[in-house]
Amino acid sequence: MADRHCSAFAPGRVNVIGEHTDYNRGLALPFAIAQGVTVKAEELTAGPDGAASVEAIACDLQESDRFSLADPAPAAGWRAFVRGAVAELSAAGMPLVGARLEISGDLPRGAGLSSSAALSIALCLALAELASHTGRGPRELPLERIEIARICSRIEHHWTGAQTGLLDQLASLYGAPDAALLIDFRTLEIDAVPLDLGGWRFAVEDSGERHAHAASGYNERRRECAHACELLGVESLREARPEQLASLPEPEQRRATHVLSENERVLQAVAALRAREPQALGRLMNDSHGSLRDLFEVSTPAVEATVQRLLRAGASGARLLGGGFGGAVLALLGPGVPNPPGAIVLRPGPGARLTG
Ligand code: GLA
Repeated sequence: MADRHCSAFAPGRVNVIGEHTDYNRGLALPFAIAQGVTVKAEELTAGPDGAASVEAIACDLQESDRFSLADPAPAAGWRAFVRGAVAELSAAGMPLVGARLEISGDLPRGAGLSSSAALSIALCLALAELASHTGRGPRELPLERIEIARICSRIEHHWTGAQTGLLDQLASLYGAPDAALLIDFRTLEIDAVPLDLGGWRFAVEDSGERHAHAASGYNERRRECAHACELLGVESLREARPEQLASLPEPEQRRATHVLSENERVLQAVAALRAREPQALGRLMNDSHGSLRDLFEVSTPAVEATVQRLLRAGASGARLLGGGFGGAVLALLGPGVPNPPGAIVLRPGPGARLTG
């Protein structure tokens, strides 16, 4: 009898500032948004041979997948996340049950709003809840949030080949209404920073260029940062001092200069928010974009055109969002500035939760 069922929701995220800092043990300032991924799960009884399986349906794509619970073989696209979630939860010691999963959502894929982290978190929550059936309230999850973040990061690394950091997972899991999260990736400390913007608001516009971190230059950037650390004899770029960077060759020097200055900008952005100075935040966003374009070299012509369009439409700041190489652009709009056509206003919302 398939009587056990549950559902889980994980939001996407916007990162106000602090890009390519997470895997360098630096700082970032994301917030969870209202849009995200929902996974409805119900127990699937084993077949006549007694073997449990997992059946997944991606409602928006009208695609499905089916595989053995005990042996999820690798696959591509969204299926990699489902199979990865089953495999990594099992490897982490979570005893799972056969499941039928229905995936739906309202986040554009590959647009820099972290659809993949939202997908893997909603899957892990639904699968773990179905198996443990805690039936606890929506804020009480079947696993510690930090453990879910780590499991989801392993899904990205082992099942999709993207060597991403923990930014997206932590933002989605720890999101809070009306606040951004100052995350210190050295200690994994998270502080809520009220996003009290008066009439100001954040909006994103898609550049129209899809990105996939496994195939983009993302992993290469990560290797360049690791190489810079090796040359400097430090464990991470968080330990590097600005005066050491001149000794680095290129492109490592440019990459490290971006990371160190971006950490500083995150702190300045927090100060600007606390002082209610949105104009200053807009300037920091523009500086961040310039650094991502010129020093970290992760922008593209489509992203540049989108940034320029948003600035011409009156944005006080506009910057590429997430890993770059396409995806969305984040803009900060003042009270009198109309919403640019094609841009969606995004507000901070609560983090991942069980919804039934
Ligand atoms: C992607 C990755 C994150 C982070 C950002 C860049 O969103 O998933 O871990 O590295 O790029 O800040």
